[in-house]
Amino acid sequence: MSETKIIDGKAVAAALKAEIRSKVARLQHSGPIPGLAVVLVGHDPASEIYVRSKIKQTTEVGLASIEHRLDSDVLQEDLLRLVEELNEDPAVHGILVQLPLPAHINSTEILLAIDPRKDVDGFHPINVGMIATQSGGIVPCTPLGSMKLIQSVRPDLAGLKAIIIGRSNIVGKPMAQLLLAQDCTVTLAHSKTRNLAEEIAASDIVVAAVGRPHCIRGEWIKPGAIVIDVGINRIVDEQGQRRIVGDVAFDEALGRAGAITPVPGGVGPMTIACLLSNTVDAFLRETCPD
Ligand code: GUN
Repeated sequence: MSETKIIDGKAVAAALKAEIRSKVARLQHSGPIPGLAVVLVGHDPASEIYVRSKIKQTTEVGLASIEHRLDSDVLQEDLLRLVEELNEDPAVHGILVQLPLPAHINSTEILLAIDPRKDVDGFHPINVGMIATQSGGIVPCTPLGSMKLIQSVRPDLAGLKAIIIGRSNIVGKPMAQLLLAQDCTVTLAHSKTRNLAEEIAASDIVVAAVGRPHCIRGEWIKPGAIVIDVGINRIVDEQGQRRIVGDVAFDEALGRAGAITPVPGGVGPMTIACLLSNTVDAFLRETCPD
């Protein structure tokens, strides 16, 4: 067994937030500060927790936080009108509409209505297309944070084989684009993939974004591989304790992986730090376009 480095997402996120805080402090001297608008519809418990944390950290780094909480029976047209108002508001530089939205809302139409320049989630098709063609664009926060963690242990990824398990628009697909842009040979695996264990065993980088506890077994990991666990799964363990665990069987991967992110304390803290960083970048593009 060789030593596995545990990638400390909290520490990397704290360093990124410290950088953001000092950038914002410099901006405060010269005029307006970046503002992030967060829209929460309804009372989904997980969304409430995420939004509370996003708002807290927004204000901690000195950004302006604009909060909109709407009832779960809000009409499509009223939500659209709010997005349009935020698009026009000069104090708002980033807009985040927390997902999932209630079933009666057409989420695609809402995400399309967000001004791509303020789309700090990177979900708008304009940003998706720009990332795919490597022509700039706002990068979704979880893949961006995951890339920063990978490159914190290995900056040059050229020629490495990478596998992402999970083909979501939020994580899997943009992650594939980012790894491709770093000259990796990329496999995007999903529920119909054959021989998943063999595909993983051939990979130098493994990004697990499945949403099923411990479904990626340690023995599948290539010795020395970098493992990024995006999963956040709430379970009750054998001792009857509620716990949050990832998609990777962490204990099995120890001593086999070269580096691995823990859950919690890995990708999670990076997602919010990258949201704040995307907001400052959106502000800077808007106020000093060169
Ligand atoms: N719900 C779960 N993750 C996310 C995210 O990154 N952005 C938004 N807007 N909603 C989410």
